[in-house]
Amino acid sequence: MDAANIENQLTKVILTNDELQNRLAQIAAEIDRDYADAEHPLLLVGVLKGAVMVMADLARAISIPVHIDFMAVSSYGSGTKSSGVVRILKDLDIDLKDRDVLIVEDILDSGLTLSWLIRNLKSRGPKSIEVMTMMRKPDAVKVEVPTKYIGFDIPNEFVVGFGLDYAEQYRNLREVAVLSPTVYS
Ligand code: PRP
Repeated sequence: MDAANIENQLTKVILTNDELQNRLAQIAAEIDRDYADAEHPLLLVGVLKGAVMVMADLARAISIPVHIDFMAVSSYGSGTKSSGVVRILKDLDIDLKDRDVLIVEDILDSGLTLSWLIRNLKSRGPKSIEVMTMMRKPDAVKVEVPTKYIGFDIPNEFVVGFGLDYAEQYRNLREVAVLSPTVYS
């Protein structure tokens, strides 16, 4: 889906598909360099569902060998996201012992999901653990999360696309765009 298909539901496009793909290519080149001497393939861990698009494009832009796994997590209850208490809905299949792990996320907002996830994955004995996020909302970051690779800092607006949803819609939008308030008000 392109922004042009749903113009009346969007206020503005903030990242085009070209901008997203060019930035991913730069980050992939950094990852190639940073993990060139790794003993085992780098393990990319995606957080469902938002990270699916980033994972698919980033993994293909990387030239070194990688393994891919996914986790699904959920905050306890609704509206309690700020508690930072997270429940695992689907755990990893791959053992993290002595592995170089790179968590792949679509967006870093409050940082609560990632800070919990890093603590959880660290307890499994990986060799290293780092974070790549396609987008970051700096105004909203409540918890400092060490993030090695950041695609774009974006404004604190309601954005959809490239994996980000509103009520499960718009994940397949190629661009990242601000959703028109007429859609949710
Ligand atoms: C989004 C996103 C991150 C999290 C970031 O997931 O994919 O995992 O929120 O928010 P935080 O920094 O405030 O913790 P969401 O819970 O919306 O699930 P989804 O990926 O299935 O859309």
